[in-house]
Amino acid sequence: MNIRAAAPGDHSAIRDVLLAAFPGPDEADLVEQLRADGDAAIELVAEQDGRIVGHILFSPVHGPFRALALAPVAVAPQRHGEGIGSALIKAGHELARGQAWDAIFVLGEPAYYRRFDYDPALAAGFDSPYAGPYFMALALRGALPATEGQVTHARAFAGLG
Ligand SMILES: CC(C)(COP(=O)(O)OP(=O)(O)OC[C@H]1O[C@@H](n2cnc3c(N)ncnc32)[C@H](O)[C@@H]1OP(=O)(O)O)[C@@H](O)C(=O)NCCC(=O)NCCS
Repeated sequence: MNIRAAAPGDHSAIRDVLLAAFPGPDEADLVEQLRADGDAAIELVAEQDGRIVGHILFSPVHGPFRALALAPVAVAPQRHGEGIGSALIKAGHELARGQAWDAIFVLGEPAYYRRFDYDPALAAGFDSPYAGPYFMALALRGALPATEGQVTHARAFAGLG
């Protein structure tokens, strides 16, 4: 399995993975809107035998320091539990560190994201429509430069229900 940057020729296969992984088209549409808005800061695919089997996207948030939002991450359902999601998340973190981002925010299941060191306590001081027990942060370069403030996701998220 190979993790690499997503290319325009992957977009249709990425949409297929997102439609298969999520119950409806919202996440597939979100990814396309994020790209159209120029907000796909880091977008990776997992490829195996010439097929796209996973996808992850990180978009910039407006906040008190340089931070990204991880959303969405998806793996083809028949390939769940093989470490593909973990590999995409870790590869994204490495790239984000290399690009000197300070932090990543994610809205998700703490039982999953804690294994990548995301922490709800670290996000608890920030104002966001997503604030709550499922809103987590990961500090990429030591302590966060601030522990409170407004965190605003990219415009495309406003279109989500
Ligand atoms: C979440 C997702 C990307 C994980 O991908 P994956 O390749 O199956 O993940 P990995 O193989 O790296 O890790 C599997 C582990 O994560 C756990 N896991 C997966 N989803 C979980 C969840 N929602 N809550 C808690 N644990 C979860 C599995 O139980 C498994 O645990 P184990 O290692 O103890 O057996 C994949 O399940 C998926 O595409 N889900 C549908 C889309 C989605 O919900 N995306 C996340 C929100 S944006």
